[in-house]
Amino acid sequence: MYLTKEEERILEGEFGETLEKAMRILVSLGEIYGASRLIPISSAHISGASYKTIGDAGLLYLSSLSSKVRCRATLNPVGMDRERWREMGISEDFFEKQMRIIECYRKLGVEDICSCTPYYFQRPSFGEHLAWSESNAVIYANSVCGARTNREGAPGALASALIGKTPLYGMHLKEERAPTVTVTVRDELRDEEFGALGYYLGGILRREKPIFRLQKEPTEDEMKKLGAAMAATGAVQIFHIENKTPEASLYPLPDERIEVGREEIKGILEFSDPDVIALGCPHLSEEEIKKIAVLLKGKRVEKDTWICTSREIRERCRKEIEIIERSGAKVICDTCMVVSPLLERYSCALVESGKALNYVPTMCGIDAQMTTIENCIKHAVGEI
Ligand code: F3S
Repeated sequence: MYLTKEEERILEGEFGETLEKAMRILVSLGEIYGASRLIPISSAHISGASYKTIGDAGLLYLSSLSSKVRCRATLNPVGMDRERWREMGISEDFFEKQMRIIECYRKLGVEDICSCTPYYFQRPSFGEHLAWSESNAVIYANSVCGARTNREGAPGALASALIGKTPLYGMHLKEERAPTVTVTVRDELRDEEFGALGYYLGGILRREKPIFRLQKEPTEDEMKKLGAAMAATGAVQIFHIENKTPEASLYPLPDERIEVGREEIKGILEFSDPDVIALGCPHLSEEEIKKIAVLLKGKRVEKDTWICTSREIRERCRKEIEIIERSGAKVICDTCMVVSPLLERYSCALVESGKALNYVPTMCGIDAQMTTIENCIKHAVGEI
């Protein structure tokens, strides 16, 4: 891989150990994937922020770094709500270590938005190059915004933030973004059915790049649910939707075809008797919070109900959050049901998300079932 004079000097350690380590990571990635050179990025989004997932080893590594990021860099959810951690059953020790992790990132210049929906804060523009980890954010940026990012691991995204560059390969190249399979959806799906569709298709598509032919134009939330689930059960990094997403018309429809409909996904949305309801994977949008407020207005939840969103959306929706919390449901920020220890005391969670359905059993050690937001709330208040 070609390196500029300055990049070579960084690699030789002239600018300190942290940048040397970061450059080594980028050069190794570039060599593995056949990149020709490094290109500048406008932002990085960094996962690997929860003490639950990175542990003491991660904290030790982060403490050893000393430099400043060279582009806008934001942080994924951490292991607890920084204000309401006690209500979540978080121990003092976990709290203290989690705060040290956040402090390490802050010192490097990373913004502690602690959310997996950085696209709600600053929507990437078409053609912009990014280095994002967090698979739902990657697929959203590539597909819905037309920005360009590979699915970085946490060390790769942090290294890119520190250098301000990323290796040129994969999703950064136009020819790598072309669809490889046409997916025709027979029925007019809505809301969480898109998450179920993504959950089903991820396992079939693996690394393919689907282009969808849908019966109706999807909303931004529906595309978020579809992408997050597909990236969780598969390794999909980009999808296109005919007449909707910004790059869909740039390529011919692939000959390889799949047809799918409500029949294939209906089993995914069945549930029986969960003992906790956990919504907000990915973090809920303003529209989703408003919808939940309408559903909960004047009612009381009979089961623990945890709702995850970003601090920013919580601020924007103060009135709705008040309505939701009057019902007894709790709206938490900075974290989620997967990357925190929150669900470990329960045995089966009802979620609205294909991504959570995939990760709750492996990451939290309990069962998970999925249904629509509407049914989650109806179940929480004892109506079904
Ligand atoms: Fe976000 Fe947690 Fe889901 S980080 S995408 S809410 S697993």
